[in-house]
Parts: sequence; C-alpha cells; structure tokens
Amino acid sequence: MFATKSIERIEAEQLGHGERTLSRVLGPGQLIMLGVGAIIGTGIFVLTGQAAAANAGPAIVLSMVLAGLTSVLAALCYSEFASSVPVAGSAYTYAYATLGEFVAWVIGWDLILEYALGAATVAVGWSGNLVTLLHQVGLGFPAAFSAAPGTVVQVAGGDPVTAVFNVPAVLITIAVTALLLIGVSESATVNAVIVIVKVAVVLIVIGVGACFVDPAHWHPFIPPNTGAFGEFGWSGVLRGAGVIFFAYIGFDAVSTSAQEARNPQRDMPRGILGSLAICTVLFVLVSGVMVGIVPYRQMLNEPAPLVVAVEAAAQRAAGTAWQGPLGVVKVLVTVGALAALSSVMVVMMLAQPRIFLAMSKDGLLPGWAGRIHPRYKTPHVSTIVTGVAVALASGLTPIGTLGQLVSIGTLMAFVIVSIGIIVLRRTRPDLPRPFRMPLVPLLPALSALVALVLMLGLPRATWERLLVWMAIGVVFYGVYGTRKSKLRGAAVQGEEAGPEDPAS
Ligand code: ALA
Repeated sequence: MFATKSIERIEAEQLGHGERTLSRVLGPGQLIMLGVGAIIGTGIFVLTGQAAAANAGPAIVLSMVLAGLTSVLAALCYSEFASSVPVAGSAYTYAYATLGEFVAWVIGWDLILEYALGAATVAVGWSGNLVTLLHQVGLGFPAAFSAAPGTVVQVAGGDPVTAVFNVPAVLITIAVTALLLIGVSESATVNAVIVIVKVAVVLIVIGVGACFVDPAHWHPFIPPNTGAFGEFGWSGVLRGAGVIFFAYIGFDAVSTSAQEARNPQRDMPRGILGSLAICTVLFVLVSGVMVGIVPYRQMLNEPAPLVVAVEAAAQRAAGTAWQGPLGVVKVLVTVGALAALSSVMVVMMLAQPRIFLAMSKDGLLPGWAGRIHPRYKTPHVSTIVTGVAVALASGLTPIGTLGQLVSIGTLMAFVIVSIGIIVLRRTRPDLPRPFRMPLVPLLPALSALVALVLMLGLPRATWERLLVWMAIGVVFYGVYGTRKSKLRGAAVQGEEAGPEDPAS
C-alpha cells in the first residue's frame, strides 16, 4: 500500500507512451494564460455573491484573501513538484512518487470531486447565466427546468416555481463532451482569446462598479454572527473562504502541461504562481466592488450576481449618460461569463479522463478507462463516462452543494500534496529542484494546516458527503486495486529494484 513509483519510472513510462512527442511550445506567458483560463469561472461569477449573502457579508473580501493565501501556499507546493517531477503530472502522480500507492489512489479518487464535480458546478453556473441572458433579451426559459429538483426559483413578476431538472446544465455538458470526444483540445490561441474576454469582463465590472459604490453597503464590514456557525461573524468569514475557495481552483491545471512547456523547470512555477497572483488581485477587487454596489443580502440565490451588481449600478445611473452604456455592459458581462464558464468546463472535463487514463495504466481502474479511440485518439470511454456523471450531477444537484463538495475535496488534495513536499525532501534529497519552496518544512506544514482549517469551516453535511465518497473509494481499492495494481504485480515478479522497491 505504501509502495512508491520512482520518479525515474514515471518519466520512463511517459517517454514510452510517446508523450514527449508533444511539442514544447508554451512559454511563461502562455502558461499564465492557461492558468487564468482555468481559474476564472463559476467561483467568481456565481459563488462569490452567494457566499457574501449567506456567510460573510462585505467581509467576503477577507474570505477572498484567506482563500487566496491558502491557494498561494498550495501553489508553491505544486510549483516545486512541477519543477522537480516535470511529467504530465497531477496530484495523483506526485502522490504515487512520494506517499505510495494507497495515498495516490485516495488522491485520484478525490480528484474526481475536483474535476468531474467541478465541471458539474460550472455547468450549473453556466445554466444560471444562460437563463439570465435569455431574460435580458426578452426570451424566457421555463423555470421548472432551470435548476435542480426541489430548488425554488423566483420568477420576475410571478409566483415562485419549484424546479424539477436543470436542462441547460445538461445541454452544455453534452456539448463539451462531444467536443472533447472528437479531440478538440484547447488551443493556446483560442484560450488566449477567451482569457482576454474573461479578464476584460472582470475589469469592466471593477472599473464601472467602482464609480457606483455606496460605502454604506460596506458597513458593518463583518456583520454580527446569527448564532449559527458560518452565518456571518468570523466563522462566516471562514466558511465563506471555504465556499469561494472554489474560485481559485484551476492553477494546478498548469502543471498538467509540463510536457508542452519550453522550459518546464523554470516556467511551471511562473505559470502557476503568476496566474494565481493575477486572479487573487482581480477577485479581491471584484468582490469588494460587488458588495459595495448591492446590499449583500440581495445576492441570495442569484444565479448571476455580477450581473445583479451591474443592474444596480444601472438603476443608480438612471437618467444620466451612463444608463445606455450600462445596459450594454450588462449583456457583455453575461455573454462573457458564458464564454468564461465554457472554457473552464473544457479544462476540467479534459483533465478528468486523463487522470482515469493514468489510473487505468497503473492497474487501479479497469482497462476500459484507458481505452483510446482509434480514429480520434481520445480516451473516448472515460470521456463519455465523465460526461454522463457530470450531466447527472449538474442536472440534479444545487450549485451550493456541488461547489462545497468540490472545495472540500480539492482542499484535501492540497493537504496531501503539501505533506508530499516534506516527504519528498526527506526521501529524495538528491532530486534536482529548480524551484524550491522556501522554509521547508514550515511553509508546507502551514499550507496543509490552513487548507485543513478551511475544510473545518465547511458544513457538516459537506464533510459527510466527502467521507461517504472516500469510503466508497477505499472499498473499491481494497476489492480491485490491491489485486490489479501493476506496481504490485511488478513487485511480485521482482521487476522493481532499489530503495523504492515495494517489497522493501
Ligand atoms: N475556479 C474555477 C471556477 O471558478 C473552477 O469556475
């Protein structure tokens, strides 16, 4: 269970699979773009408003800083791994190299929460923005089919409707799955265009919004706690950080492009930390502006809070020269959000089948998960399985439940990766580390600790879901992985040797 796969073996396997044939074209700027493309999405466009309304109030800005700090610490860990293990890695591969097969399995299973459920969360955010856009252009959408079963949808000027299924979320999932099946992977150019759109939308909201802020909305900055943990007060700031941590997820996606980077050792850390730094600044500013324009309580259950903020600005500008342009800005923000969210879904639904592929090659998942389509050269079976799972989750589950489960799952991966840094420094002190995380073991220990604290801030129900999910994973490993693992098979046949020999 604790056998590790040597870094040399991982690199050799990837060479064997011809992955080095990917051309090394990405420079530091493109890697930063890749990170920003994966980060800016439903978190900032949807969840920030909801966390402000339900948990933190105007102190959502503090939650943003706290979640950003947690992400920066984890990003330093990912940077060290990505520079010293420059393979097409993910936390799964890093864990296999450091903490052993069982922990790698735990992370791989946990990453399903980050990527597949993350994509489902973004799909629900996309659905909310689509319905908002349809209303803006005077078209309606049946409320009963716009959200998860049981969600009460307030229709403008009408009675509340109880929803039965989220149809747009399922449709966007089918569309992204189809694109990925025929092999439309991200092209750096398309990504660059979408990133420019996303950043422009956020900058417009910050710039325009700043002109309409009413500082009275920032008081009290930390609303008093209601008596329940996580509802305002400092515990609300903490829970808010756990919820909007979702907004920062994605910088680790840069590490999956190690094989395509011109100079991975130098540029991976730049891509990871650079994209995170840009997004942290944007997020803190945009969340501060948002709660400065609209009373935070108005954001409750709003599918497109940034649009609500621009609408509030437009109302305040009624009768002035701003009124016309703000109407255009409102539509731009909604359309920009739809583009932004689609590209995040592509990144997540591209990553998930690849992780399944890696786990299948290691024998921890059945062979079908690693099957490649003869014509399209895509892992078609695992892409379809991912698509079906994402579609069902997004059609049936409210965004809050999904987002919190993704946050807690990803935070758990961060805890393990942070511990992995300390372990690898001890077990492989010889490994060249072009990027070294400073102050080891203090900083990685702090990284694990703050991620754990953010997890502890999340509701009990979210913890229960995480534990049930992980328990299913452990049982699956016990029943399947322990019998089929290739590393174990190799150990039995005496193929592995050296200090990392599983038999040792
Ligand atoms: N950070 C990404 C988003 O907010 C996952 O959509």
